[in-house]
Amino acid sequence: MWGGRFSKQMDDRFAYLNASLRFDWRLYAADIRGSRAYARALARAHLISEMERDALVDGLTRVEQEFDAGTFAAQPSDEDIHTAVERRLGELVGAVAGKLHTGRSRNDQVATDTRLFVLDTIRNLQFAIRNLQSAILEKSEQQLDVLMPGYTHLQRAQPILFSHWLMAYFWMLERDHARLRDCATRVSVLPLGAGALAGNALGIDRDFLARELGFARVSDNSIDAVSDRDFIAEFLFAAALIGAHLSRLGEDLVLYSSAEFGFVTLDDAYATGSSLMPQKKNPDAMELARGKAGRLIGDLMSLLVVLKGLPSSYNKDLQEDKEPLFDAVDTLDALLPVVAGVIRTLRVHADKMRAALDAAMLATDLADYLVRRGVPFRDAHRRVGEAVKLAETRGIALADLSLDAYKTIAPEFDAALKDVFDFARALAARETVGGTGPGAVRAQIGRAKGIIKE
Ligand code: ARG
Repeated sequence: MWGGRFSKQMDDRFAYLNASLRFDWRLYAADIRGSRAYARALARAHLISEMERDALVDGLTRVEQEFDAGTFAAQPSDEDIHTAVERRLGELVGAVAGKLHTGRSRNDQVATDTRLFVLDTIRNLQFAIRNLQSAILEKSEQQLDVLMPGYTHLQRAQPILFSHWLMAYFWMLERDHARLRDCATRVSVLPLGAGALAGNALGIDRDFLARELGFARVSDNSIDAVSDRDFIAEFLFAAALIGAHLSRLGEDLVLYSSAEFGFVTLDDAYATGSSLMPQKKNPDAMELARGKAGRLIGDLMSLLVVLKGLPSSYNKDLQEDKEPLFDAVDTLDALLPVVAGVIRTLRVHADKMRAALDAAMLATDLADYLVRRGVPFRDAHRRVGEAVKLAETRGIALADLSLDAYKTIAPEFDAALKDVFDFARALAARETVGGTGPGAVRAQIGRAKGIIKE
């Protein structure tokens, strides 16, 4: 491929280090698609005849069929997917294969392949995200009347609807979905025709190539085109953030499925046992949802570190973009459907959640009660705080302090006080957009459904 000026064979161990076919074979479909378009562009520029074009296009399709069928036989001399495809093409169609690379470099070629791959991947991932969002939506709708303690700092804070808790993840995933869509606009830029770094000297029609390959536009600078991996970094950031969201969901469900909480039970299909303790049922699926975030974040970091400090244009370091990319894709491919399955099959224990509500979680509502009677909020907050302290020193619940005791704390307390200690009422008070009131949550679910339908 480039042996003309060399007088020695490559060192074996260096050849292994240098070669990327063992992982970049996954680009074969994109590579062959790019090459078919390039053969057509060569014919349009009269650099090859129409017969030669057809021979190349047909030959490339045959190579693709070998990959599809799993019969492609890699040779030790195949350095990467690009050289492997071209080598095999030569075996199938003869000397005309040597014309395919006219004016092209592996530098613009690999950038093109990777962009095609990422565009494909984004579509698949968006589909998997939508599937998980649908699972969240279904479960939220089924369990609309379930109350649970809402936490901040992992301390009981205020009563909320279980559906409201779960739907929070719908919106995280909605941003992830939108982030991928946004990322795709910057992936959809054609590098092919940039050559090694300086552009194409043979008059290739780049707009034609972009149309053929479905890119929204062509790159503006050939030096940037061959070394721009921002699109992978962006994709990996989106993947890492999906990982962070799934990890938080994992942590919530690991906690909520423990005996200490008992709020939910994971289906047996998504749990494992212990080889030592016969009674154990472990929430491994959600522990892995939490754990996989580590490698997704690592994938982003490894690419950023590779990019940092590179001199302009293509450098072989850039070959290190692929393994983190593929790792992130595979990780999310494996993870997203499992998380969706966990949510779909999750058993929700309304009674346990209800039992975990305590009257102290209505302290804010007590303060609101005083506010409605003209007490400034800061003052109301302090007075309710005194009531909490008093109940604590007497060893009773906030709801069990007598009205007289309340009156000594604030004269504004009256007989309506007992109505405050009603969780459903506290929820019903929070019907502003985005609140946990049942109506607001129903409206939220309605908006979410609209998005999914779109
Ligand atoms: N396998 C290489 C990569 O992934 C392809 C580009 C090689 N270019 C070169 N000038 N050696 O980056």
